[in-house]
Amino acid sequence: MITFDFKTYTKNFISKEEINKYINKKKDIKKYLDNKIDMMGWYNVDKLFDLKLIQNILRTATYIRESCDVFLVIGIGGSYLGAFAFIEALNPYFYNNQKKPAIYFVGTSLSTEYYYDLVNLIKDKDIIVNVISKSGTTLESAIGYDIILKLMKEKYNNEELKKRIIITTDENSGELRKEVNKEGYQSFIIPNNIGGRFSVFSPVGLLPIAVSGFDLENLSKGIKEAYSNLDKAIEYAAIRKIMYDKGKNIEAFVVYEPKLYAFMEWLKQLYGESLGKNDQGLLPISLINTRDLHSLGQYLQEGKKIIFETVINIEKSNNQLYLNKYQKTLDEINNIASLATSKAHLKGNVLNNVITIKKLNERSLGCLMQFFMISCAISGYLEGVNAFDQLGVEEYKKIMHDLL
Ligand code: PA5
Repeated sequence: MITFDFKTYTKNFISKEEINKYINKKKDIKKYLDNKIDMMGWYNVDKLFDLKLIQNILRTATYIRESCDVFLVIGIGGSYLGAFAFIEALNPYFYNNQKKPAIYFVGTSLSTEYYYDLVNLIKDKDIIVNVISKSGTTLESAIGYDIILKLMKEKYNNEELKKRIIITTDENSGELRKEVNKEGYQSFIIPNNIGGRFSVFSPVGLLPIAVSGFDLENLSKGIKEAYSNLDKAIEYAAIRKIMYDKGKNIEAFVVYEPKLYAFMEWLKQLYGESLGKNDQGLLPISLINTRDLHSLGQYLQEGKKIIFETVINIEKSNNQLYLNKYQKTLDEINNIASLATSKAHLKGNVLNNVITIKKLNERSLGCLMQFFMISCAISGYLEGVNAFDQLGVEEYKKIMHDLL
């Protein structure tokens, strides 16, 4: 269950009438969401969680868990952030020291140091790799795949490679699909109508999530729950638009559970890449508190008033620590820190939306992610931008291609 408080810490900055102007568009918004079938493949959960596909993903995940020490997920942007966010949030801290297989996300940089250290770490281990790229042409993923393939070819024969390379890509086009057809590797399809940053609940995210041992049924229940919050998704999109129209330039996503750091990266990509276009859009940033109260906290409290916050709180951790000195659990103290900060920021005219989940698990995180994806699509509609393209990202790629 998610609860939303868009009022207590936003003072009278936004009136009910201003929000209602957008809430009244609900019929049109619903029509837009239902009919934008070319890019809304992620919106129909029943289709997404097709029984045959889920069985295949679960079978493959079990096989991976039983057959390797290290599972490498090669992909960048939307091709890794969703699974990364989910896996980091729901696993215990330091999970790669405890769980088998260890999961590493590869292909997110061009760092020589990273690949040197990674190859050294895994060269004597049994490896399975999942290469994920919708276009099949992304440089970082291609280079990651090249480096890992070279290592794997030194370790395994062709028959063994077929059991150890899984490719997730477009059904028909791109280099990776050609590779699947040529080498006979196992593959999963990224549906045409699902863009990278909306693909976490397609095979892009579901396979790594299942390998990490998470329950896809509870996840699908959570995703479905998000639809009952459609009014809140519209309200949140409306608030973001009004904030922007009234001079706010930056939305700070704030959490008090550091495990959500990767979820913050996913959120920033979702909102930044979807809505930062046409010379407009809120800049998404993130704060991991209480750490960042001792850093950016100063700017938020007393700096330029161009920022508003969206705080995501967790009511209760899975484990409890009682601190005699304070006669409180650490959870209680953490939640008090969040409350105190929202109050202090409001005093300094920095407005907060507060979203609270009861516990962090497959269901609540699934719901939260789908909520933000739906609201992001609505933001695109309200702000008059196409949330599903990213033409700006192509610019550096073109120049780099020429330079290479
Ligand atoms: O959200 C997006 O569409 C992008 O971030 C892509 O996911 C990213 O650029 C990677 O693209 P591809 O999956 O084609 O390698």
